[in-house]
Amino acid sequence: MRDYYLGLMSGTSLDGIDAAIVDLSAPFPTVLAAHTRPFTATLRQAVLDLAHGQAPHEIELLGTLDTRLGEQFAQAVLTLLEHSGIPTTAIRAIGSHGQTVRHRPRGPEPFTLQIGDPNIIAERTGITTVADFRRRDIAAGGQGAPLVPAFHAMCFRNADEDRAVLNLGGMANLTILPADPQTPVSGLDTGPGNVLLDAWIDTHQRKSFDAEGAWAAHGTVIPALLDTLMTDEFFQQPPPKSTGREQFHLGWLEQHLHGTSYAPVDVQATLCALTARSVANAMTTWAPSTKRVLVCGGGAHNTHLLELLRRHLPGTTIESTAVHGLDPDWIEAAAFAWMARETLAGRTANLPSVTGARHPVIMGGIYLAASTQLR
Ligand SMILES: Nc1ncnc2c1ncn2[C@@H]1O[C@H](COP(=O)(O)OP(=O)(O)OP(=O)(O)O)[C@@H](O)[C@H]1O
Ligand SMILES: [Mg+2]
Repeated sequence: MRDYYLGLMSGTSLDGIDAAIVDLSAPFPTVLAAHTRPFTATLRQAVLDLAHGQAPHEIELLGTLDTRLGEQFAQAVLTLLEHSGIPTTAIRAIGSHGQTVRHRPRGPEPFTLQIGDPNIIAERTGITTVADFRRRDIAAGGQGAPLVPAFHAMCFRNADEDRAVLNLGGMANLTILPADPQTPVSGLDTGPGNVLLDAWIDTHQRKSFDAEGAWAAHGTVIPALLDTLMTDEFFQQPPPKSTGREQFHLGWLEQHLHGTSYAPVDVQATLCALTARSVANAMTTWAPSTKRVLVCGGGAHNTHLLELLRRHLPGTTIESTAVHGLDPDWIEAAAFAWMARETLAGRTANLPSVTGARHPVIMGGIYLAASTQLR
């Protein structure tokens, strides 16, 4: 039997559920098949209401959404299996990230909450499912995020040059991969990726995202607004740090816009510049010797944003992970497929140098398939 695992990811953008079947037999993973199951507008809105603390009956909504999302994740698996022609029995396990509805990794009672009931996924698919990866890292004193750097390191670390991987999802996160094997991998969330761009274009043009950053490219950056947005204390904090919709959302932007009358297109240009500048600042502060940045996540398709980044980082090559053998759209899902394997093998997969955990941990809970023989 080959080492096939299935990863499920639904990030902060709430654009849909990414599902990928990954062959982990060789040292470098191969994505065999992949599928995105978009959210309906009503489901997306319900998750947003819960995530933003705007729901009147939070526990009711949490419970029902846990079930609804569990069913959606299971459907994404079943559709992918059907389209790919790969039999269920070939999949050793599913790694499901879940949908984050709250992420508060700091403070005396830190927590993070990902929903989409893995019991339902295991039950509907008949495949052992590993889920709830982040909380063990938090229990060990970490941020529970970012978790993908270990996977990035396995795929893209190179002994000849200092590299970084930039994931441009709803938030933007950076994995720093020093060429020197003695130097630990580090990583951090740099701030918003696409979340504000999506929210602003949705408000003004009823579009879910700014394709290729074309609308932003038509505007003019407003320096005063950009400077104000950059004063948010998150940008100055040293790593380890991670963020989410609790911090960067439309309301945050509107506070800064209060009393101004900027043209919407110029605000979009400024938001794109905010992502570029906050990423570039993090790079120059925490990874100044980086020669090459490999970009993944949906923002890898935002040509305008990548152009801005190139202007900020003239000595650095900025290119898609596709150039290095992995499609940028499936890396996060593939990472959770890999994490499922590591958990089932009893191996740790968090990087304390990234999350701040006291030690490496075996992550996640295991929901066995009905056919599993327990020793
Ligand atoms: N062609 C495109 N041009 C510009 N932006 C795009 C394009 N395609 C996708 N995107 C952006 O990518 C986003 C989705 O990215 P992705 O799925 O990687 O993020 P995510 O689901 O938030 O994941 P995570 O937060 O875990 O990284 C969309 O919301 C959109 O903003
Ligand atoms: Mg997504």
